Amino acid sequence: PSNKYMFKHKGAYFVQDITTAEYIDSLEDFEIRDSDVFVATFPKSGTVWVQNILSLIYHEGHRDGTENIDLMDRVPWLEYNLRNVDYVNRPSPRLFATHLLHNLVPSDLRNRTGKVIYVARNPKDVVVSYFHFSNFIVKLETISDFNVFLEKFLAGKVVWSSWLDHIEGWFTHRDDFNILFLTFEEMKKDLRGAVLKICKFLGKQLTEKELDTVVENASFDNMKRDVRANYENIPETSLQEQGKGYFLRKGTIGDWKNTMTVAQSERFDSVFKGKIQELPFKFIWD
Ligand code: PPS
Repeated sequence: PSNKYMFKHKGAYFVQDITTAEYIDSLEDFEIRDSDVFVATFPKSGTVWVQNILSLIYHEGHRDGTENIDLMDRVPWLEYNLRNVDYVNRPSPRLFATHLLHNLVPSDLRNRTGKVIYVARNPKDVVVSYFHFSNFIVKLETISDFNVFLEKFLAGKVVWSSWLDHIEGWFTHRDDFNILFLTFEEMKKDLRGAVLKICKFLGKQLTEKELDTVVENASFDNMKRDVRANYENIPETSLQEQGKGYFLRKGTIGDWKNTMTVAQSERFDSVFKGKIQELPFKFIWD
């Protein structure tokens, strides 16, 4: 059910106050250009990382230290237009991030106009990252007991709804989109390879030197230091409580082991594991 922190619309939960059902509905007819690029994710799966990579690939200025525009402006959020940017008249190429379920994105996108990069991450790392995130984002409900959070997550009763529905929807309808699927884990293991995949998908030819620069600036440590990329600059939206936590927290594979008990991990497997066997994402479950 809806509460102080989230409202339900068309089967999905959204953050209260920073968007509306009418605005979500209006996105159906939002006109997409061939040159538009979307990063689509369930939250905590590598959104900011790919936002930054896209920004680096498209905007040379981001690298030279002369521009001070943060990611929220470079690759804004489609369904939460926090800075009231005129998306319709924004010059090409437009870059966006979205956490929407596949059926709620603009219909043009579902008809193979524009491009989508979908990033998936081991859901155990997602739930742990999301748990920490909820506890420093003012607009999300603070839940200090991980077990309580876990049950809500498994039931899809969190903002952005069910991880399983998200990933299943996007994958099952992949033929409706121009889409590239990536995993957080492959990016972590071979960032250069992932950036090359992205460039190929976008038809972008970078020199070796440019590629090196993108990879270097997209490393966890460099992003963590980069105020244009680490989302520590956005208190005006009252989205986060400064100093209580970070968008760039650990950036590792398998951190769930530090939070989940064996029983919680087994409970997680019993709900999710069998259901995603058909999907191509090879998560490291154990
Ligand atoms: S959000 O709020 O949905 O936009 O969050 P999202 O960006 O999808 O996910 C945040 C997690 O991604 C990690 N991250 C990175 N890991 C490795 N390398 C780089 N460069 C990087 N950038 C972001 C970030 O640390 C969050 O994961 P956790 O496990 O919490 O550290």
